[in-house]
Amino acid sequence: MKHKVVQVKNVNRSLSLLRNLNSRSSIIPGLGLIHGPSGFGKTTTVVWMFNQARSVYVRCYATDTPSSFLSRVLEEMNEVPRPPLSNMVRQVIDRMVVDHCSLFIDEADHIVQNTRIMETIRDIYDSAEQPVVLIGMEQIARRISHRKQMFNRISEWVEFQPCDLDDMQKLVSELFEEKVTVEEDLLSYIRNESGGEMRQILVALEKIERFSLANQINSVSRAEWGREPLFLLQRR
Ligand SMILES: Nc1ncnc2c1ncn2[C@@H]1O[C@H](COP(=O)(O)OP(=O)(O)OP(=O)(O)O)[C@@H](O)[C@H]1O
Ligand SMILES: [Mg+2]
Repeated sequence: MKHKVVQVKNVNRSLSLLRNLNSRSSIIPGLGLIHGPSGFGKTTTVVWMFNQARSVYVRCYATDTPSSFLSRVLEEMNEVPRPPLSNMVRQVIDRMVVDHCSLFIDEADHIVQNTRIMETIRDIYDSAEQPVVLIGMEQIARRISHRKQMFNRISEWVEFQPCDLDDMQKLVSELFEEKVTVEEDLLSYIRNESGGEMRQILVALEKIERFSLANQINSVSRAEWGREPLFLLQRR
């Protein structure tokens, strides 16, 4: 299977989010939120977007402090962190303003309870006025809603949706090495069993690709696949 990012609907929605944040009028706040369940493709999408636009990507950790967070952002900017913290905040703001760059903050669930880090992000946003996008799991929107000053600066959001059949057809046609058709009954089955989760869908599709190559067939239906499990702990 090829290694590439396929522009499924969630990717296109995320691109619109970034486009809207970048072209917003000056009276509209510029925080964005991308959220959804594990394995739906959030990190892949954001890393792909940040490679296309002027932006900085950081991932948060459970152990983060304001200092570790700011140091990581500065490292991504190829800046040497110069404490104290107030100075490091200034460094981040200056670089974002000079480079007109957005900031993507992945695994934000880890910091949403940390008032000092969240306030630091708000300070950065208020001074740099460049888009800042938080990425996290399903519960993050509700958890941020308790932080009014953060919550009311969010003007764009995308909730990642399960892959639909169109998305899955696109995955097959763009990722398989050879032209193989996966019949709709098999795709629907995979979609139902996986709940539309990208990570599981790709595992199943790779098995089908191998099967089609090994058996030299260019179309695979549910009947052809048979009863071999496509997922761990699958009901038979
Ligand atoms: N648009 C895409 N095209 C191709 N592969 C993708 C795409 N989106 C995700 N994937 C693949 O699906 C898997 C899961 O994606 P990813 O890690 O981005 O999900 P996530 O939502 O960030 O999950 P988590 O919440 O667990 O961090 C990865 O292996 C990734 O390579
Ligand atoms: Mg992720």
